[in-house]
Amino acid sequence: MDTLQLQDLYKIYKEGDIETVALRGASLTVQSGEFIAITGRSGAGKSTLLNIMGGLSIPSAGRVLISGSDIAKMSESERTVFRRRQIGVVFQTDNLVPFLTAQENVMLPMQLAGRKNCSQEARTLLFEVGLKNRANHKPGMLSGGERQRVAIAVALANRPNLLLADELTGELDTATADQVMELLTGLNSEHKLTLIVVTHNKTVAARANRQVHIIDGQLTETTGTVRSI
Ligand SMILES: Nc1ncnc2c1ncn2[C@@H]1O[C@H](COP(=O)(O)OP(=O)(O)OP(=O)(O)O)[C@@H](O)[C@H]1O
Ligand SMILES: [Mg+2]
Repeated sequence: MDTLQLQDLYKIYKEGDIETVALRGASLTVQSGEFIAITGRSGAGKSTLLNIMGGLSIPSAGRVLISGSDIAKMSESERTVFRRRQIGVVFQTDNLVPFLTAQENVMLPMQLAGRKNCSQEARTLLFEVGLKNRANHKPGMLSGGERQRVAIAVALANRPNLLLADELTGELDTATADQVMELLTGLNSEHKLTLIVVTHNKTVAARANRQVHIIDGQLTETTGTVRSI
């Protein structure tokens, strides 16, 4: 991936008379191959930041630059193509298609990107996330942790350069969370997958090269040591 720059982002949600300022002047530069953990209290603006980084939501003010060009200036279709090819997102809440099997869910983004004959690759991805025997299960037949791992396989389907993950280990037991983190950190170190994870888990945060903390819609950064979350 090329350098991702967030410059002085503001996000204001308006619901009737109520305005919530979720981000107020958030800036961050992400270099290719970095692993960044984003921490902060509930409601601090972590998911808001991640959605903007992934081009899924537009900031109220500020700029998102990829290799220096502003994604707000792309057309909707350019942004969609860019997102499909370059970015994988694991959402905080379940985003699997309920009537498709695990394998079909993983194949969906591949097909949307115009790829054919992708069933084997989908199975390989499910194997990588430890779900080789669940390929034909629909989401309703899977546990919360298994669904989350399918969602990771979906996010990795087009082998993105940037993976954004919102609380991906929250629903997993320690052993499975470790396994998923091993997979992701392996992709980060071997394939230079740029990794940005929102987490409340100090062990996960401690694995990152950089820790970005959101407080009052602004970002502060620490490197290396674990801070209290
Ligand atoms: N669609 C929306 N409309 C109105 N307000 C919103 C919307 N989405 C988020 N908010 C508000 O913006 C603030 C930041 O929300 P956000 O989801 O980014 O927090 P978060 O840090 O991800 O929290 P959590 O750890 O609970 O997931 C919160 O006060 C939330 O209530
Ligand atoms: Mg959130």
